[in-house]
Amino acid sequence: MKRQWWQDAIIYQIYLRSFKDSNNDGIGDFKGLISKLDYLSDLGITALWVSPHYESPMDDNGYDISDFFKVSEDYGTLKDVKEFINEAHKKNIKVIFDLVLNHTSDEHEWFKAAKDPVHVDHHKYHDYYIWQKPKYDEAGNRQMPTQWLSWFGGPVWEYNDLTDEYYLHIFSKKMPDLNWRNNDMKRDLKDIAKWWINQGVDGFRVDASNHLEKNWDFPEGHPGYEHFSGLPMHHKYLEDFGIEVFKPNNVMSMGEAGNATKEEALKYCGFDSNEFDMLIHFGHCWADLDFSNQVTPGKWSSGKVNVRHIKSSYDKWFKMLNGNGWNLIYWHNHDQPRVISHYGNDTSYRVQSGKMLAYSLYLMPGTPIIYQGEEIGMVNVDYEKLTDFRDVEVYTEYKNFIQAGATHELAMNTLRNRSRDNARTPFQWDESSYAGFSKVTPWIKVNDNYKSVNLNSQMNDRNSIFETYKELIKMRKAEQLNDGIIEFIDIENEDAFIYINETSNAKFLVISNFREKEITVDLNIVNSGYRNILYNYSERELVNVMKLQPYEALVYKMTK
Ligand code: GLC
Ligand code: CA
Repeated sequence: MKRQWWQDAIIYQIYLRSFKDSNNDGIGDFKGLISKLDYLSDLGITALWVSPHYESPMDDNGYDISDFFKVSEDYGTLKDVKEFINEAHKKNIKVIFDLVLNHTSDEHEWFKAAKDPVHVDHHKYHDYYIWQKPKYDEAGNRQMPTQWLSWFGGPVWEYNDLTDEYYLHIFSKKMPDLNWRNNDMKRDLKDIAKWWINQGVDGFRVDASNHLEKNWDFPEGHPGYEHFSGLPMHHKYLEDFGIEVFKPNNVMSMGEAGNATKEEALKYCGFDSNEFDMLIHFGHCWADLDFSNQVTPGKWSSGKVNVRHIKSSYDKWFKMLNGNGWNLIYWHNHDQPRVISHYGNDTSYRVQSGKMLAYSLYLMPGTPIIYQGEEIGMVNVDYEKLTDFRDVEVYTEYKNFIQAGATHELAMNTLRNRSRDNARTPFQWDESSYAGFSKVTPWIKVNDNYKSVNLNSQMNDRNSIFETYKELIKMRKAEQLNDGIIEFIDIENEDAFIYINETSNAKFLVISNFREKEITVDLNIVNSGYRNILYNYSERELVNVMKLQPYEALVYKMTK
């Protein structure tokens, strides 16, 4: 395959609402983003993935779209978007937009027609969504078609009296799922994507791409995820979309899917695949679940970080795609907690563990995605009140926790640890009010630590997390780390994260301690010329048996 731009890219994810506010309404916007392009370019970023910017009632911060052809007034105008694309291109930065194909907002014109039998377009649009008649119990009470559970907690069904039917929503009830068995609907979605391609975008991240097909027999199940996630037919839909929309227009596409077998991985993003170019997979995320926790279950329960699990997920993906496809590497996106709080230590070791996590990830092969604020070591929220949170999911889940027996304090702690809002607080630019994000109270509260954790104080400080990121990005490019071949060492080790990334010119050895305690590693490596090039404590010579301090990490290089 001809070398593609995305194989050499350094992608940065922009959560637009929280990046930079230009007009002081407390909401990040395109003009704010444009004003920071120099910053991103200096950092070494070559592609930006921007979260949804389309018109939306913002039930799920824009993943609930009411008009795909309009730019949300919160974020600016179409003119601003075009200016952003132009300015980014001038700096050799590619633009990737979020494409939401699984659902719309319930305020989208399609859904307004679909739910209302007297609407002139009712017959056309009713079938764009997924409807089922109620069931009735023996006493004649109306029942939902199934007990399936939405990804945000609560049922997937919402009743619509106008048609006496339930509609399916696997996310919030303001996000009805689209019916991918309807060809007119698919035609419309393709036209939307093509229209944005004509505005100049270089790629798409396809939201919720593994959920497109549903089991239309609607069998009973609780939570029932197997009936609306990962069904074989979604590959067919994606392939068809890719062949008609992405490939002929030469735009990059990256999908998302929780997990996959080798066969499936190649379907998604093998070099011959027509579905996607790359895949955002989640195998290394939430590697600290406590399955015995019934009060705050699932992703909300936190136990010890399973380092082996993280390594084996990356290892599996590198092996599955090796030579046949291209990997993406990242720590987290806008749906997970901040990585330092999650896999590192945000109290006594914020800087050390932040650097350790950076070395552990960014010396690997593949194309990296850096999440905004990660490069300055932002951490989870410190919110005191439930109403400080903004995420729709938080409010359903808070109720679930209390119902399952949690105290308010436990529920709040859980949200501070695990909720998506952790990654969504305003970017901390400097020590001025609201962290330099805006001059007015932002839509979501700034983390109180902004006076000590901000970009301004880290710039030009050689020991900062920010300078570490900058250096790593520079090195990735110079050494073509994206292209290397990785081999984990002592992959079964429960505390250490050790690997070699071999490029055509050199070998890079990364040794990280993921724990707050001292550990000893037995490397069993012949030191034939390894030089210590990066460290988060102090420079050290490589020897076979090494004692590592809490969160200590070292990078060695051997030129071939
Ligand atoms: C994806 C997005 C998430 C959103 C959901 C529904 O998982 O990353 O933020 O809530 O899809 O669109
Ligand atoms: Ca604004």
